[in-house]
Amino acid sequence: MISFDRVTKRYEAGHDALREVSFDIEKDELVFLTGHSGAGKSTLLRLIMLMDRPTRGQVTIDGRNLSSVGKRAIPAHRRGIGVVFQNHRLLFDRTVFDNVALPLIIAGYDHREIGRRVRAALDKVGLLRHEHAMPLSLSGGEQQRVGIARAVVGRPNILLADEPTGNLDPELSAEIMRLFEAFNQVGVTVLIASHDLVLISRLHHRILTLKDGRLISGASGPGDAL
Ligand SMILES: Nc1ncnc2c1ncn2[C@@H]1O[C@H](COP(=O)(O)OP(=O)(O)O)[C@@H](O)[C@H]1O
Ligand SMILES: [Mg+2]
Repeated sequence: MISFDRVTKRYEAGHDALREVSFDIEKDELVFLTGHSGAGKSTLLRLIMLMDRPTRGQVTIDGRNLSSVGKRAIPAHRRGIGVVFQNHRLLFDRTVFDNVALPLIIAGYDHREIGRRVRAALDKVGLLRHEHAMPLSLSGGEQQRVGIARAVVGRPNILLADEPTGNLDPELSAEIMRLFEAFNQVGVTVLIASHDLVLISRLHHRILTLKDGRLISGASGPGDAL
């Protein structure tokens, strides 16, 4: 589902953020991406979302080589991918419902379909009764769950998360990870960047480890995950 073939990303300053990175993630997998700060985790996710392009090598998503996806096809590519950020980037002057509805409004869904899908997404993250609340009236963990609802409301095949538990205590972090596992169990491919090794080694999923832009472990498939 997500395939990197000797991907190198060099920023203009001449620094290689990723060097010859190769791995495959299957459709049914949930995989963690870890490594020190500056190791290249966010860069790797940005290449999948086409927020950036590799300097060398190929990224293939759902059978499609991203080098063949032109500028105009980027919005359609992104609609297949849900993204969760650490600081969840919610609009604080809009209700929970409106925040989650945003991607569907942009994609041009009709009013009734938006209502149906937003409530289904809020229900999945346990926030249905907060649909009329403003984000700032919610706890940090609840705000992050709004971010997750917004990421899945378009029913993406792939869910990416960049340090989704960065601001949360261990208990809330574990709860957020359980949510990602639940989406994975219904067929969503999940890739989560996190430097919280204590948390992610407790969950039994494959871990890709980056060090200075190189993939130093986890590259092989689920067969040898342990
Ligand atoms: N837009 C950019 N321009 C130049 N260098 C960048 C840019 N984004 C990231 N980098 C550099 O690339 C390396 C990897 O960064 P990043 O992918 O953000 O790592 P991580 O998410 O693992 O902390 C770092 O050395 C960072 O300074
Ligand atoms: Mg990062």
